[in-house]
Amino acid sequence: MISLKTEDFIKDSIINLIPYKVNEIGHNNSLKLDANESNYILGKAIKRRYANFIKDTLINLYPDSSSKKLLNILEKLYGIKSKNFIFGNGSDELISIILLSLRKDVAVNIPSPSFSMYDIIARYNDLNTNFIKLDKKSFDLPANMASRQNIYLKNIYFFSYPNNPTGNHFNDGIIKKLLENKNNIVVIDEAYLFFSDKKSFIQYITEYDNLIVLKTFSKIGLAGLRFGMLFAGDNLINEFKKIKLPYNINSLTLSSIEFFLNNFNEFDKNIKKTVSQRNKLYSVFKKIDFILPYPSDANFILIKLNDKKLKNKFDEFLKNNNIIIRNFTGNMGLFYRITIGTALQNKKLIGYLESFH
Ligand SMILES: Cc1ncc(COP(=O)(O)O)c(C=O)c1O
Repeated sequence: MISLKTEDFIKDSIINLIPYKVNEIGHNNSLKLDANESNYILGKAIKRRYANFIKDTLINLYPDSSSKKLLNILEKLYGIKSKNFIFGNGSDELISIILLSLRKDVAVNIPSPSFSMYDIIARYNDLNTNFIKLDKKSFDLPANMASRQNIYLKNIYFFSYPNNPTGNHFNDGIIKKLLENKNNIVVIDEAYLFFSDKKSFIQYITEYDNLIVLKTFSKIGLAGLRFGMLFAGDNLINEFKKIKLPYNINSLTLSSIEFFLNNFNEFDKNIKKTVSQRNKLYSVFKKIDFILPYPSDANFILIKLNDKKLKNKFDEFLKNNNIIIRNFTGNMGLFYRITIGTALQNKKLIGYLESFH
């Protein structure tokens, strides 16, 4: 057998990459609260109507992302013409499309901590990344960041809005200032905006042609369908259209999204429940003495252990009780991100946390 010297073929930036870790799907006894999915399962009646709707999807043909029905629904929902959005196989794919399109002299600016895929994808595209240290307490952007000199002339900023994993929104004033500068592109990733009262940046798409807005249905109950959207002005979107693979969204997903957008009250109901559970959980967490919870506008809450001596014991406790939450490494080692579950899951979680000593 020949033995291929991979490093002679594969880019250093990929050889040196640490892959994104995906936890396995939990089993019946586990509390899987790690991936910011929705934990609400579709009811029987809507499931039946859904099955009936998608059963005639023509899977013998290539998918048609320009289906008028779907485009019309989305145009109405977001008030944006269909020429100004594209779909992605999850917003992950759209982040990838943005970063793939960039010249090497554009620096990628990423708040720290934030969603790890921005950095992972920037790295294997051999782009320079620059981490923006967030305020330790408020997790906001540094107040002077829009006016200070950046070492790179051209910059792209990725802002998860609200931010994953901290749960807060960044200061709108700073974002607007960055948008006012033609040497910047600003990406507002609204994956969690469904759970917040803030307004979408989509309203500014016609005003700023250096603004990109990302949306996804993953966090409200459709993670398995893999459907994200990218909104931008004519100049940028026309470049992204050139590199988007022609059939990136499969026919079943396209039909499903059309069905669920016409039945959105199912999700509205669950979003409201998640927000109310989040607020309840936050007040309970505040009373648990070994953790500090951070306020959140998303479908998760970030907590910090008050004492680093507890770290190993707490990790062991989570493992022994099949509690799967997101933990972090390095200077985030004492932090955990907990996805908001159903009322029953949250009750179980509280029971466990209150029994930890
Ligand atoms: C901020 C942020 N953006 C994008 C994504 C990816 O979403 P999608 O499932 O649409 O690829 C996530 C998922 O965790 C996220 O946290």
